[in-house]
Amino acid sequence: MNNFTNLRGTVDLLPDQLIKWQNVEKIIIEQLFRSSVKEIRTPILEMTELFMRGIGEGTDVVSKEMYTFLDRGERSCTLRPEGTASVARAIIQNGKSTKPFQKLWYMGPMFRYERPQAGRQRQFHQLGVEFVGYESLRSDIEIITLAWDILEKLGIEELNLEINTLGDHDDRVSYQKEFLKWLEVNKNSLDLDSQKRIDKNPLRILDTKNVQTKKVLENAPRLFDFLSEKSLERYLTIKEKLKLLKIPFIENFNLVRGLDYYTHTAFEITSGALGSQATLCGGGRYDNLISQMGGTETPSIGFAIGLERLILLSGNDLEKSRDTDIYIVNKGVHAETLAMELSRKLRNYDLITELDLSGASFSKQFKKANKLKSKSIIVIGDNEAFKNEFVIRLFNNENLEKKEETISIQDNIKLEKWLKNNLLLDKNF
Ligand code: HAM
Repeated sequence: MNNFTNLRGTVDLLPDQLIKWQNVEKIIIEQLFRSSVKEIRTPILEMTELFMRGIGEGTDVVSKEMYTFLDRGERSCTLRPEGTASVARAIIQNGKSTKPFQKLWYMGPMFRYERPQAGRQRQFHQLGVEFVGYESLRSDIEIITLAWDILEKLGIEELNLEINTLGDHDDRVSYQKEFLKWLEVNKNSLDLDSQKRIDKNPLRILDTKNVQTKKVLENAPRLFDFLSEKSLERYLTIKEKLKLLKIPFIENFNLVRGLDYYTHTAFEITSGALGSQATLCGGGRYDNLISQMGGTETPSIGFAIGLERLILLSGNDLEKSRDTDIYIVNKGVHAETLAMELSRKLRNYDLITELDLSGASFSKQFKKANKLKSKSIIVIGDNEAFKNEFVIRLFNNENLEKKEETISIQDNIKLEKWLKNNLLLDKNF
């Protein structure tokens, strides 16, 4: 027999772990809802061409990390490595039915063939937010503060925001010319990886982790010095606004991001509480992506947060789930029918109910209710069932007399009254 295991770099998320995931997702979705950001869901599988054109063939993501295969119709397909290119495609494709300005979010699995380690997987999850069609500085600030506030709301500590500007297309062309000249002269002082990047993706050399190369780069021309007046003005104003809003940040002129579509603002949020994979959130402006992919000129900005890393850092208080409100103990052929009827009826209330499915002895069922710390139990044996009634009582309650009630199965009013007085105290129904 085969012993199947999951693929390297993928994980099973089990029910106990998912309590925290669900609580984190709930807080995030609430923040987005309150900020008028609407959900979009795009396919996990896309044409390979989309990512090659959208993200850039020279990037690590496209050249080394994609899960790409031919489907049975010989079409090259790729499991999405990120969400921005797919959103851009969806905007272009559904152009007539979508509005020119859209604030969108998505959450789901992404796939990159990377070396797995703590906080880095081959199948991982992102929350992405894209403000499509927005050009103003306000959108840059709103997107950065939204990312920041979500992380703060989840109690993530030691947050650091790093920002940079990549200028517009023309700024980068004139910079790249000078930078390439400099690279030719200094080629031999760079590490091998960086040397390989000179032809493919020279800007990426700027965010090398190699200490020696970093030192050499200190003398390289800076993109900042090639910004047009307009680009510079834009960047300086963004810094000013962040200061006014009391969002602490540091400038990192080497922050170029790993995807080719960025223009102007680029940013990352890291946490000192994470190990080597410290980047929780990455984002920036991509004013040319949609037009380059065949759409109309659509300036846009967005970010994505890695959910695995977020879950690692968010507080233990989010691991708690709601307790069981009612455990339905039942034994006997007639009792079980009544119990099933009750279980259905109780789904109408904001209560967590569990119907015992075992048919075990009453004492075993009581033990199970006890183990679950159920707030109350319903007990139905055949005696009760013959009379079409059941007993409901608060579990582990000293004052049993007062809290116990025998209720006829038809008597919804009496049941509701009991639930209201004992379990639904602070809820409207
Ligand atoms: P990214 O920087 O490639 O940006 O990814 C964003 C975040 O996803 C990272 O900061 C990290 O938290 C998480 N992440 C990336 N790769 C992995 C991995 N292998 N395992 C675990 N987590 C990972 C983007 O993907 C852009 N689409 C963001 C964006 C949206 N820019 C504009 N709009």
